Amino acid sequence: MPKPTLARRALPVVRSEEEYPFAWYAIMPSSALRRRPRGVRRLGRDLVAFRRADGAAVIADARCPHRGADLAAGRVVNGELTCRYHGFRFRGDGSCAAVPCEGEGYRPSSRMSLSTFPTREAYGFVWLGHGPDVESLPLPVTDDTPDGTRGSVVAELTWDAPYPRVIEGQMDIHHFPFAHRPFARVGTRLDPFEVDQEGDVISFSGRLRKEDGPRDRGGLFMSMKLRFPGTLVAKLSGVVLTAFVTPVDATRTYLAFRYTHTWPLVGKLIAWLAVVSELQLIQPDDEAMLVSAGPDFDASENCYVPSDRAFLLWHKEWRSRERAALRSPQRSRSQSRQV
Ligand code: FES
Ligand SMILES: [Fe+2]
Repeated sequence: MPKPTLARRALPVVRSEEEYPFAWYAIMPSSALRRRPRGVRRLGRDLVAFRRADGAAVIADARCPHRGADLAAGRVVNGELTCRYHGFRFRGDGSCAAVPCEGEGYRPSSRMSLSTFPTREAYGFVWLGHGPDVESLPLPVTDDTPDGTRGSVVAELTWDAPYPRVIEGQMDIHHFPFAHRPFARVGTRLDPFEVDQEGDVISFSGRLRKEDGPRDRGGLFMSMKLRFPGTLVAKLSGVVLTAFVTPVDATRTYLAFRYTHTWPLVGKLIAWLAVVSELQLIQPDDEAMLVSAGPDFDASENCYVPSDRAFLLWHKEWRSRERAALRSPQRSRSQSRQV
């Protein structure tokens, strides 16, 4: 009789024609990862995050290596992720700590281990490292990104819109008087508008004014910085908005908006009010516009104007890094371990 073989578990789907630039990606606020495991889909993969006994965050493949159950439905016991289906337990390094049905002396095969991914925790977020040498890459934050420890309130959203389109939406100033009712009167002319790139940081600022209004005051002035791939920082009269934008997969995007105001006592309340206003008055309009543009994105099909040039720089960066990732000799080898 032929020896029975265990079917190899299918790897989570990563569309072969697509690759995400090698970088660190913010996948969830630290505050959202507590005692339970948390399942998320990012960069086209289903992932589970949990905390080891020492509190360190771990990101792993969400499929149990035993028979594929979603580990996000399990529990964390003494820092070990426990599958809800048959109770197999996994340590923070991915190794299997226990197989209850086989008893205490059982030694599981090395295949009975979780794929874990490079993980960091900083600036109030859990970051997923993508790429063969990702540990050598810096976290994509600007020099003025708040560390998230004081006066910060965060909200998470997932939109049915592709990543580059959502980035465009976040870097777009001239849509405000049309797309957002509270800004209907600020003026529609974006002038002056300045864009600059230093390394992978794109800085841009502009004033929306009436056609005959002054260029140096009034209207709506905005100044932002984006560090590639998706961390955007904007300072708005005492409040700092940090947006962390990460692909869910080819057609969906994760966004976390964090407002920070560091005044003692009332800072957090101000930040909370800013988040609530953003969620009620701004983001639904943006989501509707972006979703209305469809699930596919091809920059070459768009007809850009000079006021769009901040995100044209982003597209250039994305294209060159996506090509580099696709060309990487370590890509195919690393796909099973690297997200
Ligand atoms: S599927 Fe996870 S322990 Fe069986
Ligand atoms: Fe907007």
